[in-house]
Amino acid sequence: MIDRPRVFLAREIPAAGLDLIRGASEVDVWPKDLPPSRDELLARVVGVDGVITLLTDRVDDELLDAAGPGLKVVSNYAVGYDNIDVPACRRRDVRVGNTPGVLTETTADLAFALLLAVARRLPEARDSVLDGRWKTWAPMSLLGKDVHGATLGLVGFGRIGREVARRALGFGMHTLYASPHRAEAATEAELRATHVPLETILREADFISLHTVLSAETRRLIDAAAIARMKPGAILINTSRGPIVDQAALADALRSGHLFGAGLDVTEPEPLPADDPLLALPNCLVVPHIGSASEQTRDRMAEIAAKNLLAGLRGEPMPAEVSP
Ligand code: DGY
Repeated sequence: MIDRPRVFLAREIPAAGLDLIRGASEVDVWPKDLPPSRDELLARVVGVDGVITLLTDRVDDELLDAAGPGLKVVSNYAVGYDNIDVPACRRRDVRVGNTPGVLTETTADLAFALLLAVARRLPEARDSVLDGRWKTWAPMSLLGKDVHGATLGLVGFGRIGREVARRALGFGMHTLYASPHRAEAATEAELRATHVPLETILREADFISLHTVLSAETRRLIDAAAIARMKPGAILINTSRGPIVDQAALADALRSGHLFGAGLDVTEPEPLPADDPLLALPNCLVVPHIGSASEQTRDRMAEIAAKNLLAGLRGEPMPAEVSP
């Protein structure tokens, strides 16, 4: 490795990772909470050996050209890397790292928190208390949906989907999952999860939770036609990526009552503009992409992102390298 490689961090990350990077390189950290503009990003990467990016920072030919031939590694502070043109990086021998594994449980917790909150109408209930609408115990008000005993449909059955299934066991839910790859029989048995086509999930699930990567195949997977085929009164949870859902169709289904509710940690765009129709719907709970946002998990993400960066700079195996 060059004595003190130059690296750019597109945002400050927790000290658990930042200190490792500072100890081994000349570090330029973007000093603001908001991401650098495209022009600022392109200017800051000129001549760097490595870069830490976030899901808000697009890494493509333009950025790789701006960085120049010295760039060795792009370490994404996220497990998802749809912001990175991986083939473009490969063409230039730029290695790409991400942060799988360390955020699995935390993101599954959030998916389940959204599921419970929407099912039991917690945002509306809290608003009613704050607005002074809580007058008495009422037999018919704020009635939600039972979670226990309900059918959960998981779209995608990777690490996070499986952890959501594990949480569902505790609520006595019946879990169906749709995935191009069937899990091993032992996993299915342990999680009491049944592999089915997506159509079955749309037709039968009371709760659908999305855990698939964003790709050409999954973009708008949950479109108007799919939503129309969802069970009336179902609840949709998305902690994966916003573009997987057609949000206009979702808003229509929430407004008409075809769907009971939705819980979204991810949207398109992010942030969602304040006048977006989804934000006016009481049965839609939107939170600002906080799936991995626990103190412990963000520390672990920082550490793995830093180790990916430093290993890439040294030409060593990275703890988590995105495979070609
Ligand atoms: C990821 O890691 O891809 C999440 O979306 C942010 O933690």
